[in-house]
Amino acid sequence: MNSKGNDSLGTRSPLLPGEGSGVRPLLLAHRSVRKFTSQSVDDALLAELVECGIRASNTGNMQLYSVIATTQEPLRSELCKLHFGQCATAPLWLTVCVDVARYHHYCRVNQCDEPYGNLLWFISALVDASLCAQNICVAAEDKGLGFCYLGTVNYNTRQIAELLQCPKGVVPVIAIAMGYPDEEPRRSERLGQDAILHRETYHVPSDDELVASHRVRDDDPFNKRMVEENGTRNYCEIFTTKRYPREMNTAVSRDLLQFLRDSGMWDF
Ligand SMILES: Cc1cc2nc3c(=O)[nH]c(=O)nc-3n(C[C@H](O)[C@H](O)[C@H](O)COP(=O)(O)O)c2cc1C
Repeated sequence: MNSKGNDSLGTRSPLLPGEGSGVRPLLLAHRSVRKFTSQSVDDALLAELVECGIRASNTGNMQLYSVIATTQEPLRSELCKLHFGQCATAPLWLTVCVDVARYHHYCRVNQCDEPYGNLLWFISALVDASLCAQNICVAAEDKGLGFCYLGTVNYNTRQIAELLQCPKGVVPVIAIAMGYPDEEPRRSERLGQDAILHRETYHVPSDDELVASHRVRDDDPFNKRMVEENGTRNYCEIFTTKRYPREMNTAVSRDLLQFLRDSGMWDF
């Protein structure tokens, strides 16, 4: 958007900052969607969404990320397989990548050093990619679309990068399955501000405070049912023994670190 409120697609943004866009009710109504109708997301809408992503703040305005949109078969199904078949009906898959390759290319063309394949820039670009992705997702919800982020991008990063033909310096870090919702999921619970917001400095909670702030999670009827179904002692144990156990975390981290090294992202 330029100073007159026009974005790079040449359309005027309907609102300028401070005009009150109703974004808060949209944010508060968020829920992940995992089942989608067969309706595709047309290219003009995709462009609008990505434009919203591109407008997100980013480190030094260097935009060290890329977004790969996958809609065509058989690629869409191959990608879904690498996400263990999750969100199988989603017509649109967005893979957001940390991308230092484009900036290094820019450096080479300008006969400059290429100093961005390292931890500092991986973290910076990861934050930028996340902000871009979340802007896309909020804009998508505003248009009546649903989506689900897929952390499985971290489990098969190498294979996903190969499938999507990512060159060195381009690492998939965020995956989003998107489309028109074919379900109305519940609005899941959240820890409240008593756990999340620290005023002025960090407050380490006592055990009692910790238990009180997590009651919203531990007493949630849906979560209680999951405890029964999983046969665990409590909700926490579902995560530590079944969903994200230590051995799996360690193995995935090892593979991920090796891939980051191979991709030139860990070059220090
Ligand atoms: C980085 C990230 C990875 C996620 N990975 C998965 C996933 O692999 N499968 C899934 O069903 N949901 C996934 N989710 C969705 C979360 O489970 C969901 O956001 C969370 O349970 C809160 O529910 P809500 O989004 O409906 O409020 C992921 C969310 C994020 C932000």
